Amino acid sequence: MDKIVLAYSGGLDTSCMIKWLQDRLKVDVITYTSDLGQDIDLDKVKDKALKLGAKKAIVEDLKDEFVRDYVFPSLRINAIYEEGYLLATALSRPLIAKKLIEVARKEGAKKIAHGCTGKGNDQVRFEVSIGAIDPELEIIAPARIWEFKSREDEIEYAKENSIGIDVSKESPYSIDRNLWGVSIECGVLEDPWIEPPEDVYQITKALKDTPDTPTYIEIYFEGGIPKELDGKGLRPVELINRLTKIGGLNGIGRVDMVENRLIGIKSREIYEMPAATILYKAHRALESLVLDRETAHFKELISIKYSELIYYGLWYSTLRESLDAFVQHTQKRVTGRVKLKLYKGNVQVIGRRSPHSLYKHELATYDKEDVFDHKAAEGFIKIWGLPYRQYD
Ligand code: ARG
Repeated sequence: MDKIVLAYSGGLDTSCMIKWLQDRLKVDVITYTSDLGQDIDLDKVKDKALKLGAKKAIVEDLKDEFVRDYVFPSLRINAIYEEGYLLATALSRPLIAKKLIEVARKEGAKKIAHGCTGKGNDQVRFEVSIGAIDPELEIIAPARIWEFKSREDEIEYAKENSIGIDVSKESPYSIDRNLWGVSIECGVLEDPWIEPPEDVYQITKALKDTPDTPTYIEIYFEGGIPKELDGKGLRPVELINRLTKIGGLNGIGRVDMVENRLIGIKSREIYEMPAATILYKAHRALESLVLDRETAHFKELISIKYSELIYYGLWYSTLRESLDAFVQHTQKRVTGRVKLKLYKGNVQVIGRRSPHSLYKHELATYDKEDVFDHKAAEGFIKIWGLPYRQYD
């Protein structure tokens, strides 16, 4: 029998797919589930896959690789989509795609299946990534072709096929979570005028429940990578987890936005990104101290492009890799410390320092230590403004 590797989350959709692929396509299903810090019981997910007839259920911890090769490159460029989304979901897709291919090759499967619908970005990210690495693989997206027209149809199918679903426990929202953030949509959120009910939030506190005194933290970066929190060296995943906790307690990183999807529709999404929000702010603050103006501004320009490449599923592209090479070079200087104050949903940068600082007190000061050549400014302005004095 042909084999297919299915990206399996353990949820209703992909659970139905295990059955559906066996019934309709007559294939052996191998499920692949990655641990990206989504905080669910992966042993249970594995058991469930096997119970539903999967020939093999693979679970793999990708957290370190995810942070090192996907999250940190996006942090170095300060990637943010449409000024709000720190791309947690989008960044995970190319990594999962790469792993699905590795499994397919190892298991001798020629097909890969994923659970995405025909309306979202993730189908594009998976399929473009897979195609860029191995265009020979066939991709099946059951949700685009199966007969179920609604969630109710699917639940019916699940019941008929003894796919254990506790409908009362099923969230009314569609939630994608990893260690970099949570993306939440559907349910009442589909009306962009309605305030998100408090129960949509998974990892952040409501402001009324956050501490009444600020929390101060200090982050040390080396070459653009966060290495220490409050003077303690931490492995990347641990550092992010701690920031998620501290940030979440202070209600940091909630975003409610309407975004432009790649396939042309607008969608309303809620994001919770405490660690990403803190690191993004801290990293930018350090860069403001150590990068010269032109490099900093150029970085900002290409950051928009880079963010689009992530969002549009073009991670495995020459342009993304080339931009990375440029960014890497700029990060050599991005070493130093940033002090931050977390309070009632806000992240305030309150101090920064670096051995590579370009901030010179004797140039900036208005006191008597001032060494700036005030007279030289006159000539500079004359030449700088020259073109604009030529108009009639
Ligand atoms: N809109 C986000 C993106 O395109 C998140 C998609 C997944 N969201 C979800 N709630 N399941 O990356």
